[in-house]
Amino acid sequence: MSGGARERIAALRTEIAHHDERYYGLDDPQIPDADYDQLLRELRALEGAHPELITPDSPTQRVAGAPSAAFEAVVHEVPMLSLDNAFSDEEVRAFERRAAERLGTDEPLEYLAEPKLDGLAVTAIYRAGLLERAATRGDGFKGEDVTANVRAIRAVPLRLHAKAPALLEVRGEVFMPLQGFERLNREAEARGEKTFVNPRNAAAGSLRQLDPRITAARPLQMYCYGLGSVSGWDLPERQSELLEALRQWGLPVCPEGRRVQGVEGCLQYYRQMGERRAHLAYQIDGVVYKVERLAYQTRLGFLSRAPRWALAHKFPAEEAMTRVRAIEWQVGRTGAVTPVARLEPVFVGGVTVSNVTLHNFDEVQRKDVRVGDTVVVRRAGDVIPEVVRVIEARRPPHTDAVALPQRCPVCHSEVLKPAGEAVARCTGGFSCPAQRQEAIRHFAGRLAMDIEGLGEKVVAQLVERGTVRSPADLYGLGAADLQSLERMGEKSAANLIAALGRSKQTTLPRLLYALGIREVGEATALALARHFGDLDALIEAADEHPEQIEQVAEVGPVVAAHVHAFFAAPEHRALIGRLREAGVTWAPFAARPADLPLAGQTFVLTGTLAGMTREQAQEALSALGAKVSGTVSKKTRYVVAGEAPGSKLTKARALAIPILDEAGLRQLLEAHRR
Ligand code: IVH
Repeated sequence: MSGGARERIAALRTEIAHHDERYYGLDDPQIPDADYDQLLRELRALEGAHPELITPDSPTQRVAGAPSAAFEAVVHEVPMLSLDNAFSDEEVRAFERRAAERLGTDEPLEYLAEPKLDGLAVTAIYRAGLLERAATRGDGFKGEDVTANVRAIRAVPLRLHAKAPALLEVRGEVFMPLQGFERLNREAEARGEKTFVNPRNAAAGSLRQLDPRITAARPLQMYCYGLGSVSGWDLPERQSELLEALRQWGLPVCPEGRRVQGVEGCLQYYRQMGERRAHLAYQIDGVVYKVERLAYQTRLGFLSRAPRWALAHKFPAEEAMTRVRAIEWQVGRTGAVTPVARLEPVFVGGVTVSNVTLHNFDEVQRKDVRVGDTVVVRRAGDVIPEVVRVIEARRPPHTDAVALPQRCPVCHSEVLKPAGEAVARCTGGFSCPAQRQEAIRHFAGRLAMDIEGLGEKVVAQLVERGTVRSPADLYGLGAADLQSLERMGEKSAANLIAALGRSKQTTLPRLLYALGIREVGEATALALARHFGDLDALIEAADEHPEQIEQVAEVGPVVAAHVHAFFAAPEHRALIGRLREAGVTWAPFAARPADLPLAGQTFVLTGTLAGMTREQAQEALSALGAKVSGTVSKKTRYVVAGEAPGSKLTKARALAIPILDEAGLRQLLEAHRR
């Protein structure tokens, strides 16, 4: 029987190691977790019956032995170096110039480019294919022995595949993927324990545990990127071949590494990873370029602590810490009372952030953000900045949890938060100056009635003075009403009156959007216009057959209910009557999708636009019938390039596709909107 058990045990160990490699090394699991657990259980049971067959490389032995009292010091035979940093394209160019000069070559150098993982460096020594020792980087010369903990990380193989060198010291980064990090923090929060500030701290904290059982329970990953001491192996010629060999021996290597040509290849990779960054499963803080040819690496050598053949090109930090100065409540067009954190200005993700929305009261409670708190602020790509979490350890004494205001901060009407809804609302309706002001601003907006010159400051004054109480009042404004406003001369007043006159001739989708029906954005307004053709048909449906509204593509029951409620309100019917009386007209809307001005044209967006989000640009384009795609091809009509565009721009240039900047996009949208 023991012979059969021996074979089964060997087969199970190989199979489990294979699944670890699929999962961590190749990011391509073949079996569900439950099946994996079943294999491990079977192995445990067999080893329990045959303890003489247990070996240290068995997956059941990842966590073995008692917690230690302290970490022993380990001297690194080959020092663990750090990297020089570059923050600009120019610094990358200078790096290449220096390297080429030293090598005495004019040819563009080849590089292996890979993400700069945000974790901590670890070295692992395999002798005869078995994991023998692992250590942290420490000061680069001396680290701590964390063998027991590294053994507990499933990503790290305990035994390498056949043909591995007699001695192999691999170096890489231990890090915590984002999903695992968030789960860990959620669980800590639920238990009322302290949370980790970021995945890097979580990874470091998890690895520096005296009890390896704790490390084993943490979702850690490791990617290998280099070597320390090696014997019994002839090094290949290239860095990329070295990584491939590590992969072949069963070690996890980041799949994002690429061979690139010269500085331009490096910079292109940097931009590509900058775009991919937000979609990666783990945090990276830049990319690393390494000269491909190992012979060149040897010739270039080191300068103090960093190699001359490698460079870290950092991204602008996406997270930063700052202090909450105040939490204020803003009242929106629909009465939504929204908390906004006023921050000590902080530079993050390439911009200075001093205000950030906290979205709603539930969110404030969930994050327990208080005035005086130190918070982590995140701004990734073109996503609006957010408060990620509070650093509770830095909370000053005697703070109070934020309370929902009982009364509207503007009109003092009651604030209600219906059970089950996240949003609290001022019940003042149009009597609330804040709601009035926002409704009128929205009405005049560029995508709505497009009344040029009717900006925030003018609207604020008109509402404050009571000159304008409803959007319809705008059309009764005379030169005298306007000229008395601050910073409004005769000329601008005349211009504004002319703009008001022009805005009277509008389209049905614009009018519907301008009315400010809850949840009716530009795209929904267009869908409603397309479906009903004119306003009276829509009003009739809202009155008599509300179920018809739900039949409109893109309209669900919630939106349908808002449309119904909007037209049921007598003040809204009165508003439409008054607009008509003032001479506002719109033609019946008969456009079929194929008649839309940009029908059949495909647009690709890249980079960040200053004045609109990617979603807004996308919505505006699709409202005009255009298709927005993620890939550039010969069929692309235009590529819209904002700030820091990526590889799509390069591709567009290669295919000679017309490129629009933000101003060009605006012009095109404006031209087709009327
Ligand atoms: S190579 C001699 N490659 O960055 C080369 N390091 O700032 C030394 N790191 O201590 C390191 N990703 O912890 C290298 N792909 C990568 C890396 C990487 C992250 C870390 C590593 C190192 C630090 C240096």
